Amino acid sequence: MLSLGKTMEQTLILVKPDGVERGLVGEIFARLQRAGLKIVALKMVKATAEQCDKHYALTEEWMKGVYDKAKAKMESLGQPFPYPDHKAYGGMIKDGLVEFLQAGPIVAAVFEGEQAVAQTRKLVGATEPASSAPGTIRGDFSIDTYALSNSQNRPLRNLIHASGTVEEAKNEMAIWFKPEEIVSINATVDPVLYGADRYRLAK
Ligand code: CDP
Ligand code: MG
Repeated sequence: MLSLGKTMEQTLILVKPDGVERGLVGEIFARLQRAGLKIVALKMVKATAEQCDKHYALTEEWMKGVYDKAKAKMESLGQPFPYPDHKAYGGMIKDGLVEFLQAGPIVAAVFEGEQAVAQTRKLVGATEPASSAPGTIRGDFSIDTYALSNSQNRPLRNLIHASGTVEEAKNEMAIWFKPEEIVSINATVDPVLYGADRYRLAK
């Protein structure tokens, strides 16, 4: 029996409508799978307004963070940032996200693995595609910028959502999956990834 540590986690992924429409579901999931993350739940969904509203339960703190980040980026480019405060900017993004996620089918999945939340975020890249490093999903397959999305009063088209924390992952999984839809898989590759006794010489 494989002994797995306390840092074995599950994380919630959504391939957003732009990722589905561009035919990138397979490519995105292949990247997560080949790192060793395991799919334990999967479905294509036409999201409801209620699901989207719950999924993006954006706090005051989040609004302040995105406002500061986007403002700094625009100002560094010498571009105007026309939003009066974090509530105006955060509200625009929230409404846009709720609309965006309902605009076409999305694919929801739960991935499992050692420190799955942080490892998935590493493979996904930064929020703004233009600032995402090459080799990341957003960096390699998307090209949107704050400058363009802000000028069009819409959220960034960045292909994928991935939970930011373990707590966030728990809340988000409950929005998109019933507990019985999340399976448990004992894969033959598990000992190669995680087995304590693997690659030890027989004594
Ligand atoms: O998705 P991620 O965790 O990287 O970013 P977030 O801060 O949790 O924001 C959620 C989503 O809001 C992002 O993925 C973007 O689609 C959108 N967003 C945006 O369009 N413009 C911003 N300045 C910040 C976020
Ligand atoms: Mg987030």
